[in-house]
Amino acid sequence: MNHLVLKRFLRFFVLSMILILVAACQKKGKPKLDKIVITTFMKDQNIELYRLENNNGIVVELINLGGIITSIKTPDRNGKIADIALGFDDPRQYLDRHPYFGAIIGRFGNRIAGGSFSLDDKDYQLAINNEVNHLHGGIKGFDKVLWGAESFSDINASGVMLHYLSKHMEEGYPGNVSVSVTYTLSNDDILKVRYEASTDQKTIINLTQHSYFNLSGDFTAQILDHELMLNADAFLAVDENQIPTGAYTAVAQTPFDFSSFKTMGQDFNSESKQLEIGNGYDHCFVINPSEKAMVEAAVVHHPKSGRVMKVFTDQPGIQLYTGNFLDNTLTAKNGGTYGPQTGFCLETQHFPDAPNQSNFPTTVLNPGESFASETWFQFSVK
Ligand code: GLA
Repeated sequence: MNHLVLKRFLRFFVLSMILILVAACQKKGKPKLDKIVITTFMKDQNIELYRLENNNGIVVELINLGGIITSIKTPDRNGKIADIALGFDDPRQYLDRHPYFGAIIGRFGNRIAGGSFSLDDKDYQLAINNEVNHLHGGIKGFDKVLWGAESFSDINASGVMLHYLSKHMEEGYPGNVSVSVTYTLSNDDILKVRYEASTDQKTIINLTQHSYFNLSGDFTAQILDHELMLNADAFLAVDENQIPTGAYTAVAQTPFDFSSFKTMGQDFNSESKQLEIGNGYDHCFVINPSEKAMVEAAVVHHPKSGRVMKVFTDQPGIQLYTGNFLDNTLTAKNGGTYGPQTGFCLETQHFPDAPNQSNFPTTVLNPGESFASETWFQFSVK
């Protein structure tokens, strides 16, 4: 082959490859992104709903109110699509009381004992909204505010970046804190949640996502038949007020051992002071340390539908909450009501009450520092 022929052949080869690639992309199409505006009684405070759809038919809907994920539709092993995230049909229903369905939680996820903590010898008192404790950011936490939203999409993913400026002393927390949460749904069936924050004064931060899942797609069915594996050899035992005692309690030989697959129901009714306090599982697990930036913290498998959800995170803890306070007072999306254990949450986070427990990893955020964290939910079937 002489030089010219080889050159021509190479040019032809490269061009063909480009054409094949373009055709493949066109066939699959770009992930879809839609925006719908829902009017509310609040002037100039309409709720924006964003719909992300990837090339495999996974659909995630979210609203700028509380950054709430209102729906996650995924296929089962036969390709049948169903919604697996608890919530409401009408986004306006999220303006009323509900148990943090799908919401972004901040400034501090989980409980702070007595709602008080100190920083540099200065005492702070936060709103008490859970018996004697501060829970999930207070009376008007990040789950109830309207976030600014910007959508984006490229060939592999689509998403929404939410912004919120939490003012100095909001719910009792010091510092003006600028927060952004970015949801990205990619064609590899991962929903990524990226949190970023910065402050102008020393403060504390612990952000999480409070989606309730039921992989069966039937919101009246209990999740106790779901198999769970947690990458955690220890959990944080709590006192009567659901505040960690400070001890890292080994899960071995306790109902909290999910180190290999076990249904959430297997030990649910076993004799246990800890299960009694939580009315079921409502505990933070200590994710086993790893060299990896993103650690596979949890895997959930629903045998009947074949749906699998994996949770990856860079956070030290993951709260397993089995929907123990769902009490049939809220109407479920596809009929019926949300009863106890009809949804589970896997809330990646720093440890509860960390500001008062010096042996826990710090949740302090200083001015000049930038907080960044990610959690990924990956959907598949088996
Ligand atoms: C968290 C808490 C639970 C409960 C729910 C919301 O997961 O740990 O105790 O408050 O939120 O109902």
